[in-house]
Amino acid sequence: MNKLFYGDNLTIMKKMSSESVDLIYLDPPFNSNRSYNLLYKNTTGLPIPEQIEAFCDTWELDFEKSELASDIPRIMQEYGINADTVHFWHYMAEALRMTDTKLLAYLVYMTVRVIEMYRLLTKSGSLYLHCDPTASHYLKVILDGIFGAKQIRNEIIWHYKRYTAKSNQFQKLHDVIFWYSKSDEYLFNELREPYGENSGKMDSHYKQDENGQWFRWQKRKGQEPYKIYLSEGRRMGDVWDIPIINASAKERLGYPTQKPIALLERIILASSKEGDVVFDPFCGCGTTIEASIRNNRQWIGCDIAIHSIRLIQDTRIKKYALVEGKDYTIEGIPQSTEQAQYLFEQDPFQFQHWSIEKTGGFCSKRKTGDSGIDGRIYFEAENKLCSMVLSVKGGNIKPADIRDLRGVLEREPDVEMAGFISLHEPTKAMVQEADAAGYYEYQGVKYPRIQLLTINQIFEGKTWYCPSVVKAQRKDGGQTYLNI
Ligand SMILES: C[S@@+](CC[C@H](N)C(=O)[O-])C[C@H]1O[C@@H](n2cnc3c(N)ncnc32)[C@H](O)[C@@H]1O
Repeated sequence: MNKLFYGDNLTIMKKMSSESVDLIYLDPPFNSNRSYNLLYKNTTGLPIPEQIEAFCDTWELDFEKSELASDIPRIMQEYGINADTVHFWHYMAEALRMTDTKLLAYLVYMTVRVIEMYRLLTKSGSLYLHCDPTASHYLKVILDGIFGAKQIRNEIIWHYKRYTAKSNQFQKLHDVIFWYSKSDEYLFNELREPYGENSGKMDSHYKQDENGQWFRWQKRKGQEPYKIYLSEGRRMGDVWDIPIINASAKERLGYPTQKPIALLERIILASSKEGDVVFDPFCGCGTTIEASIRNNRQWIGCDIAIHSIRLIQDTRIKKYALVEGKDYTIEGIPQSTEQAQYLFEQDPFQFQHWSIEKTGGFCSKRKTGDSGIDGRIYFEAENKLCSMVLSVKGGNIKPADIRDLRGVLEREPDVEMAGFISLHEPTKAMVQEADAAGYYEYQGVKYPRIQLLTINQIFEGKTWYCPSVVKAQRKDGGQTYLNI
């Protein structure tokens, strides 16, 4: 059954069976030292200032990653990785500890995941790792260690055209995709491409058949000679010219770093057959999923961002009219308060995103330092865009949290109301504190200025009480927008 997972791929992969996947394509963060944001647009044309972080590609060697860096040699041994690689990792990690801790943090993150991916692949399976020259040389060393240096099949260059800012170096116009096979008995379907202009395709070896078609004889050791027609094109090379998803691309969904379907189709057609299982552990807006659907492959996608999962449901899954439970399953999105609690414990930031979006709100950008405003609900009143600020608390809650919200109401212009989302039931003192904030009145209707919602109540369908709420929608082309 096809599966869509919401969550950290490491946790998810650890639960998956060994040798259960035929092809893995991964397009992880590249260590680009930047964040990728989604900007909202709404139906009114009034500007919405919020921005939501799609994912963050900056790295710190925190305590957890530092410990993991030391533990990787043990993990490698446990997974049967050869002793040379284990030693190499140890010395590389120690050197990077003194020279480049950010890079070490990134490599720790990637290494533990690639080890799992190797375990998941069937014997004839392949892995395609998409990266760019920022860290490709380090990633190749890691892949060589885990798969074996002889298992690299190709280093594919994805060449694209785009406009880059003027600088005193050559324009950067390619990504790198490493293809490794788990064994020598890997599946490969030869792909062909049309001859380019001036490629010298016709030479004296070509003859015309009875229908006037040009062909040449191909001889291979141990095989009968066979005809190759000019119209079949040439064997595909390892430099792929495929247009990037730019502002005017038809398939653009507005997800930063979206890859073209044509790119994924090449990989899928070359390294899998119908019915095979294709896995994308960093599936973003689901390009691999759509390419798999179109080519009758089974698919598994996973992403840590709730808006990525929502976008896949709203676009790819809708487009092919797939039915949840029949055509695919979705796992990891909390369906109960206990599951929401679990999400909070795993990743408080994603818990915040999930709960705000569940109530129709817009999430604030991470690390804004804007005193507890985690998101907003927008509504139209008095011929302008007014807002209700949202604050989310997964852990312990106290009356001071509500007092802080009252402070926000007094301080911020154009903020009429505030909403407080909590996992735990608010105390009497908190309810009193909220009541003391009074009402916002519009067109004769009174709306409590501070409203409290528990996750339980949200599951029961309760939501904010405010004038007509503005819903965001995706804008095709131009900047990056998200439909929620
Ligand atoms: C470069 S994007 C992938 C884009 C994708 N190839 C597409 O065409 O849409 C990387 C994705 O990895 C996700 N991601 C980052 N860390 C993750 C993790 N630990 N587990 C699962 N997904 C993760 C991000 O949320 C982001 O959507």
